[in-house]
Amino acid sequence: MSTRNNLCDFVLFGGHGDLAFRKLMPALYHLCKDGYLAEKSRIITVSRASLSNDEHISLVKEKLIEFLPSNSFTQEDFSRFEKKLFYVSVDFSTNEGYKKLQILLDEYDERDRVNYLSTSPKYFAGICQSLSKCNLIKENSRVVLEKPLGKDLKSSQEINQKVLEYFNEDQIYRIDHYLGKDTVQNIMALRFSNRLFVHLWSSNHIDHVQITVAESVGAEGRWGYYNEYGAMRDMIQNHLLQLLCLMAMEPPCSLDANDIRDEKVKVLKTLRPILPAQIASRTVRGQYTAGSSMGESVPGYNDAQEMQSNTETFAAIRVDIDNWRWNGVPFYIRSGKRMQRRNSEVVIQFKTMPHSIFAEDNANSIVDNKLVIKLQPEESIELRLMNKIPGLSETMKLQEVNLELNAPHTDKRKPDAYERLILDVIRANPTLFMRLDEVEAAWRWADPIIESWENNLVPMKKYTAGTDGPTASVQLIAQDGRSWNDE
Ligand code: BG6
Repeated sequence: MSTRNNLCDFVLFGGHGDLAFRKLMPALYHLCKDGYLAEKSRIITVSRASLSNDEHISLVKEKLIEFLPSNSFTQEDFSRFEKKLFYVSVDFSTNEGYKKLQILLDEYDERDRVNYLSTSPKYFAGICQSLSKCNLIKENSRVVLEKPLGKDLKSSQEINQKVLEYFNEDQIYRIDHYLGKDTVQNIMALRFSNRLFVHLWSSNHIDHVQITVAESVGAEGRWGYYNEYGAMRDMIQNHLLQLLCLMAMEPPCSLDANDIRDEKVKVLKTLRPILPAQIASRTVRGQYTAGSSMGESVPGYNDAQEMQSNTETFAAIRVDIDNWRWNGVPFYIRSGKRMQRRNSEVVIQFKTMPHSIFAEDNANSIVDNKLVIKLQPEESIELRLMNKIPGLSETMKLQEVNLELNAPHTDKRKPDAYERLILDVIRANPTLFMRLDEVEAAWRWADPIIESWENNLVPMKKYTAGTDGPTASVQLIAQDGRSWNDE
């Protein structure tokens, strides 16, 4: 890992896309504002539109005002930021326009260079090839790949192989923006810096784990993209499996990127395959119909579309991990769009006390301990414990209380996941990015499930927009005598 002075040319391909304006430019703006970008760094946007530099700068300003929280944008900060902005027009389908990019980059040939590919993966190979032809790939160049990295193992291997023709694995940074979230990184701190959890963290004391990523938004606006991928490829194969890995992995021997990634790959390799015969009892897929979200009527997934699609907008799966630590501890994972509320959390449900000495009645039952790690909408960590209700009652009365394990509140702004990740690429630290074997192991597990779904071995369950998803997902966990944390 380097601790350079962060001086680099950051080349943003597809820099006029939704992700670039919504997330990447605001992240770069904040990094600049907070002094993390070296003064002479450049942010070179490469996109199809033929615009002048000034027109590009005006557009960036307009979008920052639209997407930044209102108190974040100031003209003074923008004046410093805009000095870093450059624009080059390239048509990715014909690869015309790279000459101008070459001239611009050659001005500082020796600099570190980050090539951020925020385009459709179908352009990755062409972009890498053109960079190579123009001699723009050096030892200190890096390439960042946005998801989706394929639709299955085969297509993902094809994409990765193409990029690997031009960049070494060490130069490739595959983004999973969940790994940039502060609370997600905190999972490592919680698990590996607190003696308290060391012996609790296994099948000896944990009954099961739940991972939920629920969104209130629908697929509208991104329907074309989403319809090709669905919840399984868009969320489960990457974000949810990454969370699962962090919860389940063995302590890495150091914080070195490869030591951490080695442990995550081991988890992915031990995920029990879900065979066609088990698919109906272990998985649920759903699609939302018209309903209401946050008080407003919203259309169903297929409403107003020309085709009636069978893409899932909800997935819930019972995952088993075949190793010593997790023997008999299921991980229930689920993710959906147009759910009742935005809520992402990981719940570690501890086992029931072996024996209770307290009088048990309806008003006084011991609730099993839980550790709840909330990622969204607010980030927090809570340990649910039993406690005595103060007072003079004849028998001791108990209540469940929350022990909050949050960092002390400060007014300091919490950086967005993309700020952390972009800064890590600039610093050449790949720890929070996915290695090739991780991506492939995740697809190896996901592919047979997707195939069984495509063969209709599990019916598509409809759910009304603005609810908790199909009732079948309640049954998925209830059949094992358990319930979701929200029930
Ligand atoms: C993206 C998915 O990777 O993550 C989107 O493509 C999803 O469909 C988004 O909405 C969720 O991210 P977050 O950070 O808002 O939970």
